[in-house]
Amino acid sequence: MMASRVPPSNGSAPPEEKKVASAKEKSIQWGSRSVDIFEKIDQIGEGTYGQVYQARNKINGEIVALKKVRMDNEKEGFPITAIREIKILKELDHENIVKLKEIVTSKATDYNRGKGSIYMVFEYMDHDLTGLMDSGLKWFSQAQIKCYMKQLLEGLHYCHKNNVLHRDIKGSNLLINNKGQLKLADFGLARPFNEQASNYTNRVITLWYRPPELLLGAVNYGPAIDMWSVGCILAELLAKKPIFPGRSEIDQLELTYKLCGTPNEENWPNAAKLAWWETFKPQKVYKRRIREAFKDFPPEALDLVDRLLTLDPSKRISASEALDSDYFWTEPFPPDPSTLPKYPPSHEFQAKKRRQQGSSQQDPTKRPRVDPQAPLPPQQQQQPHRYPPGQPGQPGQPVPVPVPVPLPGNNVPRKPYPQVLNNAQKPKFPPQQNPHNNINPHAQNMQNPHAQNLQNPHNAQHF
Ligand SMILES: Nc1ncnc2c1ncn2[C@@H]1O[C@H](COP(=O)(O)OP(=O)(O)O)[C@@H](O)[C@H]1O
Ligand SMILES: [Mg+2]
Repeated sequence: MMASRVPPSNGSAPPEEKKVASAKEKSIQWGSRSVDIFEKIDQIGEGTYGQVYQARNKINGEIVALKKVRMDNEKEGFPITAIREIKILKELDHENIVKLKEIVTSKATDYNRGKGSIYMVFEYMDHDLTGLMDSGLKWFSQAQIKCYMKQLLEGLHYCHKNNVLHRDIKGSNLLINNKGQLKLADFGLARPFNEQASNYTNRVITLWYRPPELLLGAVNYGPAIDMWSVGCILAELLAKKPIFPGRSEIDQLELTYKLCGTPNEENWPNAAKLAWWETFKPQKVYKRRIREAFKDFPPEALDLVDRLLTLDPSKRISASEALDSDYFWTEPFPPDPSTLPKYPPSHEFQAKKRRQQGSSQQDPTKRPRVDPQAPLPPQQQQQPHRYPPGQPGQPGQPVPVPVPVPLPGNNVPRKPYPQVLNNAQKPKFPPQQNPHNNINPHAQNMQNPHAQNLQNPHNAQHF
């Protein structure tokens, strides 16, 4: 048996500090304060379920993000997605998951046409990954990519250990701050899961990041669905463009087959049992060509991409196995987040505004609305233009803030693997060039008491 290199998640604050902070936070009754204690600075997001603003706390000057819960379409009261998001986020406590600080409300007045609003108050993050990728700034170094991936996997490992599926992993839901920290956000599609039985909707995960089992109609699924999205993100960071930019569900499957090969008895024995197999089974046989297509990726990164983009979800690598993979244990080691470059604020919202001015096309980078009754594929969607070729410093392009600690660029030759370590010798966590990570021995043990109790009143069986 291989000894795992994956430890409990690493927390930044020692347990005593955390206790003090949470006691202070607990003294504020959730939902008791008015949004008026905040002064809105700017809109930073506009999504499926509401606007997001950068705001300042008038009492202590703290900068936060306010996510407004959109009520316009709700005939049946408070939206179930927001209830779920709040319930789940309240339970999760990890340095790679965005912190929900409190809920505030605005009263119904004539000014807001008699409609009060509810806002989630989050710690403010300077960027999201899509915003940074689209900004036209110098692309990330290999070490930087590794550092982001490590944080993404740690956050996700924590979710999965606590029986939560994220179900919408993509760049705009990965928030990054100028301390180099990456945090999972947008738990609007997340749900608790149960290892034994599931009967969940397959209309989750934004199309480009959606795994083949969901596209083929799976309703019994688990953490492996998020791992596919992680594979898409890693390959996108290395290839500098999205790898499966499908325009419709059927196109998405076709792109997947072309790169990952067509499912067959050997590579994915259960594929033919999926509900839409007959409808969407491949018309042609394609060979798997990940290794050729991505031959320029660093070898350990390519191995990891290959194991993440495994067609059969039961063979796909888990978050803990991914953290244990050679990618994180070979040079360049993931640097300490605080040494990563700092950037001017960059969110997908502004990037999208820049590139989609005037376009009313549907956007496949947008997550699906969860509507189990919605007509099923194909749903024709237009591929947006992404990653405009702008150069830093050009008009309209952000200018990079000076980098505090220079990192090796993409072209720095990789040093050979230093030595072969046996598992007992390997350190307990992917090493860092600047190892300041503390281990939080408590993080891994958190139980989600709601894991089986969150119900969707609209469709409790199938969400
Ligand atoms: N805590 C935050 N700090 C900074 N920006 C945020 C924060 N939360 C969300 N955003 C921005 O708002 C966008 C939309 O928020 P998100 O939670 O993903 O909801 P949705 O996609 O449903 O609108 C994100 O992509 C991000 O750019
Ligand atoms: Mg989002």
